[in-house]
Amino acid sequence: MLTTTLFDFHPSAHSRLETLGGRELPFGSVFSDHQFRMEFADGKWSNGCIEPFGDMSLSPAAMSLHYGQSIFEGMKAFRQPDGGVALFRPMENIRRFNKSADRMCMPFIDEGLFLQALTELIKVDAGWVPDGDGSSLYIRPFMFASEAHVGVRPSERYRFLIFTCPVGQYYKGNVRVKVETFFTRAAPGGTGYAKAAGNYAASLKPTAMAKEQGYQQILWTDAVEHKYIEESGTMNVVFVINDKLVSPALGDTVLSGVTRDSILRLAARNGMEIEERRVAVAELKAAAESGALSEAFGVGTAATMTAIEAIGFAGGDVELPPVSGWTVMPALAKQLDDLRRGHGEDPFGWRVVI
Ligand code: COI
Repeated sequence: MLTTTLFDFHPSAHSRLETLGGRELPFGSVFSDHQFRMEFADGKWSNGCIEPFGDMSLSPAAMSLHYGQSIFEGMKAFRQPDGGVALFRPMENIRRFNKSADRMCMPFIDEGLFLQALTELIKVDAGWVPDGDGSSLYIRPFMFASEAHVGVRPSERYRFLIFTCPVGQYYKGNVRVKVETFFTRAAPGGTGYAKAAGNYAASLKPTAMAKEQGYQQILWTDAVEHKYIEESGTMNVVFVINDKLVSPALGDTVLSGVTRDSILRLAARNGMEIEERRVAVAELKAAAESGALSEAFGVGTAATMTAIEAIGFAGGDVELPPVSGWTVMPALAKQLDDLRRGHGEDPFGWRVVI
């Protein structure tokens, strides 16, 4: 029997692992046996425990349901060649979680405590980490306001949980994206850099409209002029323009993606020129039409790397060269995958073996 040291452990009576079988993994609808839970009250976190994954009770007046204090992270664990398990750059997600908490007026979680909760949960459910190509254990830490109270102010109680899902691909293929010039994802001074639940809620209607027009995702533009590219749906974006790797610069309207950072650093190590800067819609359109834009892809934890095969600008779509002929994205995807799956050296120290 596995035991955990720091937290109470209530093991599930029956593991559901055998129901996983050999089937292709969906994204986000199969859940491992256990979850981590911890409560914030009277100014401190306590009652950390690992317990069976399952429903929980919540007051209808829980403040997160009304005023939206709710944040989350997305990270992954990978099966290693020796059968062990490694997390990929978990401290980046932990730090970003606390940045999100700060923006949403929620309490911090000690980084060491967070990492301990994560590793103990994954040790308990290590059998759920898949090892097939393109598969991993997706990890979802989240926090929400749980105080029962009607009135707009920061909650005095919060709940923090982590659950995990064995997953396959998030996007089932390449995507067509629409440059959005009416709706806005994030405005300066807003919450765009935070992984706040409400950011995703606000994206649903514009994305549904884009889907009706034949696109899978939106390429968001800045809120002020709708002239500059920011990010795409659940991903940051990277372009190959004149053989340089170009990505919209980070700021308070763009989520600081761990996969984005990893890809830029891998490309720089490969000797590629990197530009993190403003990318004007007009520049992108001209580069796409002239052929200077040779590749475009989304990068994110869930999506990993997803090729953008066409970009819809007002007035028409521009098709990118056939993805089968691309060289930059596949090379970077392989390097990233090798790093995460423990194939070869880890020059950046990004793997955290648990
Ligand atoms: C991630 O990439 O982990 C995300 O958070 C995307 C998610 C909304 C599915």
